Amino acid sequence: MPTIKEILQTMDYGPALETTKEAHAWLDGHERRFGLFIDNAWSDAGETFATTNPADGVELAQVTQATNDDVERAVAAARRAQPGWVALGGHGRAKIMYALSRLLQKHARLFAVLETLDNGKTIRETRDADLPLVARHFYHHAGWAQLQAEEFADYRAVGVVGQIVPWNFPLLMLAWKIAPALAAGNTVVFKPAEYTPLTALLFAEICQRAGVPAGVVNIVTGDGRVGEAIVNHPGIDKIAFTGSTEVGRLIRKSTAGSGKKLSLELGGKSPFIVFDDADLDAAVEGLVDSIWFNQGQVCCAGSRLLVQESVYDRFIKKVKARMETLRVGSPLDKSNDIGALVDPVQQQRIHGLVESARAEGCEVWQPTGELSTAGSWYLPTLITGASTSAAVAQAEIFGPVLVAMSFRTPAEAVQLANNTVYGLAACVWSESISLALDVVPQIKAGVVWINTANQFDAGCGFGGYKESGYGREGGKEGMYEYLTPLSEDARPAAPVFAAKGAAKGAVNAADADSPFAIDRTAKLYIGGKQARPDGAYSRAINGANGAFLADIGEGSRKDIRNAVEAAHKAAGWAKATAHNRAQVLYYIAENLAIRADEFAARIAQQTGSNDAAREVAASVERLFYWAAWADKYDGQVHQPPMHGITVALNEPVGVIGIVCPNENPLLGFISLVAPALALGNRVVAVPSEQHPLSAIDLYQVLDTSDLPGGALNIVTGSSDELARTLASHGEIDAVWRHDGSAEGCAEVERLSSETLKRTWTGGAKGRDWFDPKQAGGRVVLQHASQVKNVWIPYGV
Ligand code: NAI
Repeated sequence: MPTIKEILQTMDYGPALETTKEAHAWLDGHERRFGLFIDNAWSDAGETFATTNPADGVELAQVTQATNDDVERAVAAARRAQPGWVALGGHGRAKIMYALSRLLQKHARLFAVLETLDNGKTIRETRDADLPLVARHFYHHAGWAQLQAEEFADYRAVGVVGQIVPWNFPLLMLAWKIAPALAAGNTVVFKPAEYTPLTALLFAEICQRAGVPAGVVNIVTGDGRVGEAIVNHPGIDKIAFTGSTEVGRLIRKSTAGSGKKLSLELGGKSPFIVFDDADLDAAVEGLVDSIWFNQGQVCCAGSRLLVQESVYDRFIKKVKARMETLRVGSPLDKSNDIGALVDPVQQQRIHGLVESARAEGCEVWQPTGELSTAGSWYLPTLITGASTSAAVAQAEIFGPVLVAMSFRTPAEAVQLANNTVYGLAACVWSESISLALDVVPQIKAGVVWINTANQFDAGCGFGGYKESGYGREGGKEGMYEYLTPLSEDARPAAPVFAAKGAAKGAVNAADADSPFAIDRTAKLYIGGKQARPDGAYSRAINGANGAFLADIGEGSRKDIRNAVEAAHKAAGWAKATAHNRAQVLYYIAENLAIRADEFAARIAQQTGSNDAAREVAASVERLFYWAAWADKYDGQVHQPPMHGITVALNEPVGVIGIVCPNENPLLGFISLVAPALALGNRVVAVPSEQHPLSAIDLYQVLDTSDLPGGALNIVTGSSDELARTLASHGEIDAVWRHDGSAEGCAEVERLSSETLKRTWTGGAKGRDWFDPKQAGGRVVLQHASQVKNVWIPYGV
């Protein structure tokens, strides 16, 4: 007689197909042909393309490829609607957003089925993950609309927002984009991905029913060309993009100098770290959620498995056993785990990458299983034996493919985890909370899950470090992406300075002529020491009265390289306690105050200012201000709907290049450098090109103020040339430029796209550096930090 185990092995699940009747009825109701949703009306379908069911390749509907004129109409409608949407007030917007959430919940089944049909992901995921998160997002943000006047009193809506999303979470990405934008009083022109436009079109109908006023939400469909038209439209104030790093780079380039606000949520290659003391069975389940959720087509998928050597073999065995039980098949079947890939193009891309690994000698393992011949499918795949530099270990595969490696020590795990251009997410599995919490701050990623994976909530920020992009979605952090500080509107035009013919050439004549002459050229400040510029160039600085004041070193590419190296060596500054950093800033203030008269005289000499003493006093106060913030810009503890907490940590950005304003040579310099230092960044600063001597005079103050060498490096010279070098440097994490040069700021933004560094530029506008609102506040702290959300579930 067969044993129970043997009987169970011969049994299988019967088919449990979700009905598609309602979804097909909806498609039929539209005659399977969709126009665009602009200004609360449906346009007739124009030139169209097919959207198909990835599970069988069958066409679902024809959808319009929007033209430039359509985008024009959508932007115009959004612009017209924006003042009215703001005028509705927080409560008015909250009511409409609440209605949207209710309707999304009411029609959750239809949305879930339509999403599964259009995308190929399983009904279990659309029904149990996507839709509940979508509704929660609108509820949560209805709350922010309600609280806006109180919580964001010093801000206004950005204006008209262009939003472009990918196909992997079509409706969820729509919610992540549209909900915060609407809550803050913006109106939107939204473009879904060409593979998955249907749920966005259904959402448009929900907007009509919820009473969203005309023009507040506009939905235009089409491919990348429509995305480009949105990105380049001058009537758009902000672009929010989720998608590939490649397109993110293009968008950064084409918005450079436009003044458009930008948030980019890009690719990832996230590590899934398993320490030898982890609950291995739980970790295997976490891994299933991490890499096989949505067929691995997830930007934060844990696609790099890093397992401690002592448990590596055991863990891999468990992973393979679990992979054998994953059910691949019809996405509509409620008992299936893995559905179809979005398109044959993706299947070919994944296949190419996996075969390249095989050709390089890696072991490629897949469970036994048959795949349907219609549609796009890929079996869950495990690759072992890949080198750390192999394409499969570095590229975002965006499929159900896991690459496994082992490590020996926590330090090696961190090193492997960070060995990628991306920095979106990470998982850390260990039963030792002290080990896990020791590793978390060392991982360069915007989200870290401890003993869990792929958790999301509307109240917790999500977004990347490094080439995974910038900006956050969710929570209060995400709201700031859709708001502009009122102080920005008060900024004056930048003061105009006559371009100085810099005295470029050999060191000044007196020195060159005399064999005994001492080179009096003011030096640079690198690694805590005065350093001669690498090239033998100097420039003469004249005073306000035209008289010669000093020769200063003309910093070059090589000097910036040395300064960046010194900054990287000063990594201890980022780990110094906030109390310690505050103490150093107070000390700088104290030493500056002692020499206030001398600094005032120098400012007056250079600029002719009658207000020099006030500038020094304001600089001392500004140092106190940022010292005060150093140990108060704490993160937050979120309580998402799980048994646990999410800790949002404000971490330093890293090494920041700062090009200072020409005016207010001391106050401008300190207003930018001090907050960066206060939050633990290391700085390479380019002082006022016109009046650099105030920053040079600071060298001695810095030397006597306990600032570790390399935390602040100062390179004098041409703002344009040095900014260019900073923006193109691969080891700099952010560049700030505030010298009033519109073209210079545009260039910094353009060049930053290569490594996707963060930028903060002032464009052609100046800033009243004396005004604490224009030169201080939360917005500066936000530029000087990046948020890491750490998910810590409770329980055993
Ligand atoms: P994609 O980045 O090309 O598409 C994302 C969205 O951007 C779509 O709506 C598309 O129409 C739009 N778009 C394309 N070109 C544009 C342009 N020049 N200007 C403005 N918008 C533009 O991603 P795609 O081609 O769908 O997927 C290719 C690869 O990108 C995937 O295999 C995956 O590796 C990665 N990817 C990563 C995502 C993530 O969330 N990290 C999401 C989607 C794709």
